[in-house]
Amino acid sequence: MSANEAKLKSDNAGSLVWDLPLRIFHWALAVSLMGSWITAEAGFEWTQTHFLFGYTALGLISFRLLWGLVGTTHARFRNFLSGPKAVIQSLKQLPKSTPANGVSHIGHGPLGGWASVVLLALVMTQAVSGLFISDDIFYAGPYNSVVSNSLANYLGWLHHTNFNFLLAAVALHFLTVTWYLLGKKENLIRPMLTGRKNLGEKMLQTAIANNLFFRGLCIAGFVAAAVYLIVTLAPEPEYF
Ligand code: HEM
Ligand code: HEM
Repeated sequence: MSANEAKLKSDNAGSLVWDLPLRIFHWALAVSLMGSWITAEAGFEWTQTHFLFGYTALGLISFRLLWGLVGTTHARFRNFLSGPKAVIQSLKQLPKSTPANGVSHIGHGPLGGWASVVLLALVMTQAVSGLFISDDIFYAGPYNSVVSNSLANYLGWLHHTNFNFLLAAVALHFLTVTWYLLGKKENLIRPMLTGRKNLGEKMLQTAIANNLFFRGLCIAGFVAAAVYLIVTLAPEPEYF
């Protein structure tokens, strides 16, 4: 390990657990969802901006799916998706205090891991359904003209209904993080900002050595280009 990697791995601020691309993804996703929500409520003159926030969310989720395969250790799906036994165990631990070392899990725990996947799936459903729907008055998503009216109506219903589930999931997410902070006295938010947790000597080897920032940038560029092409190569949008 190089001196620089060793420094990244551990210093006074703790050991690196969440890489920078994942952290940027997380907070950008929160902003894009807030933006999508506000612009959906703000009236039809905000619809184009709603689309832009929606495309951003679509790109972010696509990025995260790829990062789950080629990102750093704790970002990889295979390292945080576990079987039902572990999930039940993790549920039982939820009301209990955090272990004495102050860290319940190095990356996601079994429960948090599946909760992340549920959030990702809900946002993906929201963004993809948006591509095919219209408000029946002024605006249509870029692929509205390729689906039948009845399918567009169904996807419109899905866009509306799924959003309520998404809101509930985000509220639960927020409540859980708050419970960790106030009830279990474990701050999960700081690591999502700084990337670091105080792992102590014993668990130090589980820290990640590198942010893989350049790899993240390449994937972000690839995903941005793909979303751009998906949107611009769509048939002419139908305005009413
Ligand atoms: C629309 C809003 C939000 C969405 C959709 C969202 C979604 C997610 C997702 C998908 C993850 C998994 C990260 C990954 O592995 O990629 C996550 C983790 C996390 N989020 Fe959020 N988030 C939102 C808002 C927030 C807010 C407002 C906070 C802080 C108050 C927060 C705190 C956290 C923390 C601490 C984690 C890491 C949990 C752990 O340690 O297992 N999130 N979030
Ligand atoms: C994940 C990001 C997105 C979120 C959170 C979101 C959220 C919403 C919400 C809450 C509404 C109002 C629904 C209602 O009152 O029935 C709405 C409407 C709409 N959204 Fe999205 N949306 C997203 C992405 C998209 C995308 C990518 C597109 C298309 C490119 C899109 C196109 C539309 C259209 C056309 C409407 C109007 C539907 C109507 O009036 O019946 N949305 N969206």
